[in-house]
Amino acid sequence: MSPTSQVYAVICHENRVLLIDQTRLPSEYTVVEISRSQDMAEAIKTMIVRGAPAIGIAAAYGMYLGAREIQTENREEFLKQLEAVAKMLRQTRPTAVNLFWAIARMIRTAYETIGSIPEIQEILLKEAQAIQLEDLQTCQAIGDRGLEILPATPHKLRLLTHCNAGALATAGYGTALGVVRSAWRDGRLERLYADETRPRLQGAKLTTWECVQEGIPVTLITDSMAAHCMKQGMIDAVVVGADRIAANGDTANKIGTYSVAIVAKAHNIPFFVAAPLSTIDFDLATGSEIPIEERDPAEIYQIGNTLISPAGIDYYNPAFDVTPAELITAIITERGAVPPHQLQQFQIKQMA
Ligand code: MRU
Repeated sequence: MSPTSQVYAVICHENRVLLIDQTRLPSEYTVVEISRSQDMAEAIKTMIVRGAPAIGIAAAYGMYLGAREIQTENREEFLKQLEAVAKMLRQTRPTAVNLFWAIARMIRTAYETIGSIPEIQEILLKEAQAIQLEDLQTCQAIGDRGLEILPATPHKLRLLTHCNAGALATAGYGTALGVVRSAWRDGRLERLYADETRPRLQGAKLTTWECVQEGIPVTLITDSMAAHCMKQGMIDAVVVGADRIAANGDTANKIGTYSVAIVAKAHNIPFFVAAPLSTIDFDLATGSEIPIEERDPAEIYQIGNTLISPAGIDYYNPAFDVTPAELITAIITERGAVPPHQLQQFQIKQMA
């Protein structure tokens, strides 16, 4: 069995839901307790919890907390109020499909459960726990399947990642960082290069923090340095996560991923996307249909409390971009790695 990361972004213990506050890392390790569905929605919106699979898990627990808040013994009324909780949670962040996937699974579970309201509430807790456990196992499988496709090099691998697709962004272990972890465990990794990932700095703050926890050698670079590092022959492959993958393989991930894919192509460096099957949205034919979240411009016009641009200008702050499938060497899933145009085989298996 693969070793698991000891970092858990979401913890459910004796009916209490705890989140590592990712807005405070790496300077402070703080755990916040969430006891109301509304607070879970706020935690997702403000990125106390972030990363596609982690917000799916958080939303699933948000559904459970919401189910517990409903004061009725009438099944129809219960389901109606649960739908309202789902609506509130869906409005938090639009891009990561795992959020909508997890909420849909919780709603389906509620409808399919025959029993009293307390019994449905109990089953919803179990379903959220199942989503979490499955994601942990999925990430470990992604990490190991990734090893099958990483390039063979005369030296140990130097990988580059963008944003944080690690334990903090999932139930544990990570997707892109899961591949890095598995490579490190098997003695195949020399070091990871982490893009800082403007504007929220998930690479600088979170990816490097996770590497430090496990002793994985990591070099932090600014986003603008990736092309230079590739030209210098410092990078063997790129591995990133995903927030939503369209049926044709176009992939939405943290803003800046698209530029990394272009420069990887220009330098003939393989570019891998590591993601669970739950991140593939087969309802969308291409990436142009993926909704892209726009966030508060304050994220780009100030660093900490310091303004870095003059007043009176305009801002544009998309949180994600879409990397076209043709720039992606392969998508690494828990069922193996495939070129983007072969993703459809997983849809057929899911339906079977
Ligand atoms: O805005 P964030 O921090 O939630 O964005 C996270 C990413 O873009 C990750 O790469 C993606 O969610 C994959 S996490 C396994």
